[in-house]
Amino acid sequence: MKTLDFNLVLIGFMGCGKTTVAEHLCKALQMECVEMDEEIAGREGMSIPQIFEQHGEEYFRDLETSLLTELQKKKNLVISCGGGAPLRSENVREMKKNGKVIWLTASPETICERVKGDHSRPLLEGRKSAEAIAKLMESRREKYENAADIRIVTDQKTAEQITEEILEILSC
Ligand code: S3P
Repeated sequence: MKTLDFNLVLIGFMGCGKTTVAEHLCKALQMECVEMDEEIAGREGMSIPQIFEQHGEEYFRDLETSLLTELQKKKNLVISCGGGAPLRSENVREMKKNGKVIWLTASPETICERVKGDHSRPLLEGRKSAEAIAKLMESRREKYENAADIRIVTDQKTAEQITEEILEILSC
């Protein structure tokens, strides 16, 4: 397996499989995995819903920006971003400093199916229908598109298949 001289940055809507695929990529490429939500929650000592509730979304977004900035100084990372990370253009600039940005996509129906029993994502509470998800997804599409170097459709694929597809594109 090839050693990459850039970081891999996974972006995409909530529930598109970033965390799981990042873990697979890390194993395959012997890279270090950083799950941004997990890292932020660990540092703050509270869950993502608690951060949103106690401090608000802007505070969380600032934490994302400073973590992303910090991570660009490191090498050999697979970074699984929170779904909203590409919404700020300064975040995208940071991702691209020494990272290849991989956008995972899935249809609103697939996302809805994957997140229906989950309550860890404040922005999806009260929005667990394919229609509501499609609306939020559409409002973000351009940001994801502009940030992405590589786009992978994940519908009806296993994490292993998605990982294989990425490794092939990267010629690993
Ligand atoms: C968010 C996505 C979440 C988390 C937060 C906000 C978003 O991460 O960062 O709830 O705005 O899309 P995942 O994409 O890992 O679920």
